[in-house]
Amino acid sequence: MSRYFKAKIISNLPLNSKNNLFTIKPLEPVIDPEPGQFYMIEPVNSYDPLLKRPFSFFRRTPEGIQFLYTIKGRGTSLMSKLEKGQVISLIGPLGNGYPKPEDGYIPLLVAGGIGIASLSPLAEALTKKTYVFYGARSKDELLILDELKELTDKLFICTDDGSMGEKGMVVDILNDFLTFHFSLLTSYVIYACGPQPMLEALSKIALEKKIKGYVSVEENMACGVGACQGCVVKVGSQKKKHSKLRTPNFELVFKRVCKEGPVFPIEEIVW
Ligand SMILES: Cc1cc2nc3c(=O)[nH]c(=O)nc-3n(C[C@H](O)[C@H](O)[C@H](O)COP(=O)(O)OP(=O)(O)OC[C@H]3O[C@@H](n4cnc5c(N)ncnc54)[C@H](O)[C@@H]3O)c2cc1C
Ligand code: FES
Repeated sequence: MSRYFKAKIISNLPLNSKNNLFTIKPLEPVIDPEPGQFYMIEPVNSYDPLLKRPFSFFRRTPEGIQFLYTIKGRGTSLMSKLEKGQVISLIGPLGNGYPKPEDGYIPLLVAGGIGIASLSPLAEALTKKTYVFYGARSKDELLILDELKELTDKLFICTDDGSMGEKGMVVDILNDFLTFHFSLLTSYVIYACGPQPMLEALSKIALEKKIKGYVSVEENMACGVGACQGCVVKVGSQKKKHSKLRTPNFELVFKRVCKEGPVFPIEEIVW
């Protein structure tokens, strides 16, 4: 089965002024996506803009594959005008997806804004006790709350302006939780997706508290399939044991978000 395929648009439903739920039906057999993987979607059926845009796999339904997207710039505003019945090109599923939690670890899913699109299928796939921390700027920007309540054992909601849930940043809410629920008998593993400053702040907390986890990173992408090097991030890696160089045991390397990511171990990214 090829990762390049065409699909018919089933619906492109506005959820609020900025976010749409996009449902497509592939016109040929396709590879099953894993939580954390993504697709490159043609925002309009023409050569302008030329480049496809990356969107996380959100959900599979009997109708097809769904995506949640925020209208940001030219590509996504053109995409918001796509109509039922139109045919578009996609590439996917791409990237590595979230690793499964080890036995005995409680997953803490931390989403900022549209990052919930990537984490929601993980919440759906996990059969064990799961806590979800979800933050947005305001109440209007919180999406799929009813579905999330069904999927999770406990849902922590926060907004920057306090219009719903606790007032504050999702990383602070997570930090409070970890401070009050610390126990030598409980091990947590974090899975996070959201804006870069949120992931950076979260990584600091995870490293301080020695909690393992994974972040799904967003970068501008051109090809989405590892060919253009347009999406690299800096990561730290241990030097080979027998390196003769008399430098610290740590070196910087670059990895492609579309190929080696978008999910990376929390301690690997150099912010
Ligand atoms: C692996 C991955 C998964 C993603 N999943 C989703 C998703 O499920 N839903 C969703 O709404 N968005 C998702 N994004 C972000 C989405 O791809 C961008 O918002 C989109 O490409 C913007 O296109 P545009 O033409 O509207 O904006 P442009 O006109 O290209 O840019 C508008 C603004 O958005 C920023 N931007 C552009 N591309 C990206 C990007 N790839 N990541 C972050 N900021 C960007 C630009 O720097 C600029 O500030 C994902 C990105 C990646 C890398
Ligand atoms: S977008 Fe081309 S290498 Fe990642």
